[in-house]
Amino acid sequence: MKSFYRLLLLGLGFIGLFILLNYQTNISNKINHVRNRASNMFAESSKKSVKPIEDEVVICVVACGDNRLDESLTMLKSALIFSKRPLRFIVISDYELIPAFHEKLTEWKQIVNKTFDFVVRPVTFPDISDVTMWRKLFKPCAAQRLFLPTVLNDTDAILYVDTDTLFLTPPEVIWDEFKKMNNVQLAALSPEHEDPNTGWYNRFAKHPYYGKLGVNSGVMLMNLTRMREFKWTQYVIPIHKEYQLKITWGDQDIINIIFHYHPEKLYVYSCRYNYRPDHCMYMSVCSEAEKDGALVLHGSRGTFHSEKQPPFKAIYTAMQEYKLNTDPYENLLMPMRNYLTLDDRSNCGKVWKVFFIQPELHLGRKNVSIE
Ligand SMILES: *[C@@H]1O[C@H](CO)[C@@H](O)[C@H](O)[C@H]1NC(C)=O
Ligand SMILES: *[C@@H]1O[C@H](CO)[C@@H](O)[C@H](O)[C@H]1NC(C)=O
Ligand SMILES: *[C@@H]1O[C@H](CO)[C@@H](O)[C@H](O)[C@H]1NC(C)=O
Ligand SMILES: *[C@@H]1O[C@H](CO)[C@@H](O)[C@H](O)[C@H]1NC(C)=O
Repeated sequence: MKSFYRLLLLGLGFIGLFILLNYQTNISNKINHVRNRASNMFAESSKKSVKPIEDEVVICVVACGDNRLDESLTMLKSALIFSKRPLRFIVISDYELIPAFHEKLTEWKQIVNKTFDFVVRPVTFPDISDVTMWRKLFKPCAAQRLFLPTVLNDTDAILYVDTDTLFLTPPEVIWDEFKKMNNVQLAALSPEHEDPNTGWYNRFAKHPYYGKLGVNSGVMLMNLTRMREFKWTQYVIPIHKEYQLKITWGDQDIINIIFHYHPEKLYVYSCRYNYRPDHCMYMSVCSEAEKDGALVLHGSRGTFHSEKQPPFKAIYTAMQEYKLNTDPYENLLMPMRNYLTLDDRSNCGKVWKVFFIQPELHLGRKNVSIE
């Protein structure tokens, strides 16, 4: 009797084991299946992001610190308002800001009737042997831009803009300057100054810089493919080491030094592409902008948030208050004009049309005069 039970138990045990094993392989098959699907999905989505959409404009911004969040979002909003082509945003930020960017951009994606895509990613450094030294040499966020050719290794080209910039025209107008570059030029920038009497580099810099007056790095077309071919990142460390005690404006100085030694690699576009307070605060020195309007506004010196140069704050305020998907004529262009015309006494206020020509051209109603 006993041995019969033992046999039965053993038999049941075997059956149990058999079922269990089968079940496990089933489960692990299922898990593998799910994993495969996930990795396929990932491969697909990364493939999608790698393959450039024809005519797509890629805008990249590096935003660290709480006060940069609103500024960057206002800039991205301005790009959305004017663009008529597919857009892709690459936002690189502090870990703390990532959820906020994600939330807002997701919301916009649902309400805006335009083709756009975005990625939000943390600041990272190239994964090479010197990485700890690199981290020590630079403040992570400030240096990020210098390493974009390596960090964005699957991206062909970007329009890099500082957080304190605003588009006054479709971003593709700037993007299409890529087509004017010859086949060695790997970036486009505008001059730091127009007038040698007020120039900074020609009067104060203790290091080499590009051209007669240097370049400003706030609005930069970067052909990352060519920058990688040039081995851009490998220039950054030695130049920083050599000049670190003589550098005032951080990464912009490093960019100036690199192009000092390789001027043929740089395409220079006009002050309209990066219009700053320096262009009007003493006297109006960007005649192209006076004639045809600024294309990108750069509120350097904190002018989007201060009373120093009222037209800069006027445009920023109007853009910040505008709600996407509402009538841009009533809710953006008209407030812009009202804020701009409140002040025409400051030096920049005297040339307020510089700030309005492009928005009016793109958002205006053809039979309404601005006067
Ligand atoms: C979205 O855009 C399409 C074509 O560009 C247009 O036909 C449609 O009316 C737009 N919808 C809204 C809600 O603006
Ligand atoms: C791009 O960078 C990522 C992360 O550092 C790395 O895994 C990948 O292999 C790189 N791709 C190429 C083509 O270098
Ligand atoms: C960047 O340069 C590469 C290599 O010369 C070229 O194939 C590519 O079209 C350029 N990208 C843009 C946006 O001009
Ligand atoms: C001009 O604008 C008015 C209202 O602002 C509108 O009623 C009229 O149809 C417009 N005329 C033309 C030719 O667009």
